[in-house]
Amino acid sequence: MEAAASSSNRCSYSYEDYRETTDWLLAHTQQRPKVAIICGSGLGGLADLLDNKTVVPYKDIPRFPQSTVQGHAGQLVFGSLQDHQCVCMQGRFHFYEGYDIFTVTYPIRVFFLLGVETLIVTNAAGGLNASFNVGDIMLIKDHINLPGFAGQNPLCGHNDDRFGVRFPCMSDAYDRDLTALAKQTAEEQGCGGFLRHGVYCMLSGPTFETIAECRALHHLGADAVGMSTVPEVVVARHCGLRVLGLSLITNKVVTDYDSKEKANHLEVLETTRLRTQDLQKLVSYIVAKI
Ligand code: HPA
Repeated sequence: MEAAASSSNRCSYSYEDYRETTDWLLAHTQQRPKVAIICGSGLGGLADLLDNKTVVPYKDIPRFPQSTVQGHAGQLVFGSLQDHQCVCMQGRFHFYEGYDIFTVTYPIRVFFLLGVETLIVTNAAGGLNASFNVGDIMLIKDHINLPGFAGQNPLCGHNDDRFGVRFPCMSDAYDRDLTALAKQTAEEQGCGGFLRHGVYCMLSGPTFETIAECRALHHLGADAVGMSTVPEVVVARHCGLRVLGLSLITNKVVTDYDSKEKANHLEVLETTRLRTQDLQKLVSYIVAKI
């Protein structure tokens, strides 16, 4: 029994690992962020808005993984945004890069141990909902953890009660008050017109979806599809962080066999470039109100 449990656990980390990383960070910055922001593909510019920055490359942080994808810088940026102490992840860890699910979510428990209370996740996503337009910002109201359906849940294995309970609730994963605050802020900022609400579905990637897969995801109730976010949110909710999720709809997925459209990463980056200022502004005003 013990042997089976430990072999299925071989990729997870111990409390002491997270503690070591956290203690190192606490020794290297005076900042004590209450808000952590994960910057999705091409959205790393969010971190540039911080004042009094301390930049810590992932490669310098004990036990921290490295980011390899184009458009991700690979550093933590501590600083204040609208007088709130924040830490931004410029570059996240994706399952498709070959990281195991425990490594993908490693930073979240470090944020928890640092004293972070709120996690803001941003990502690029393909729009499945026919009413969505490229450039829309979707407030995530719920998710479908498709890798979780196949056993890739970051909470599998031994549960450490210092982080959270064995069977955490996920029906309240995305904080309703924060989501309402984001909606109100978007309206005040004049971006209410391209704000949407919807369900985000994660696939492991790196392939974009087939037409049949897009149709299936739509039937499942997903409004947008991407390759990130869900594992981090699961771990954040496990340790009690409040979560706000924003997806930038960078492309419309292909659901028609007669279509000549093809999903590609350049389109994702180009839409992100065009909308990045709006998203940054929105996040910064939301943080001001937290
Ligand atoms: N599919 C999956 N992930 C994505 C997409 C998509 O169409 N667009 C941006 N990230």
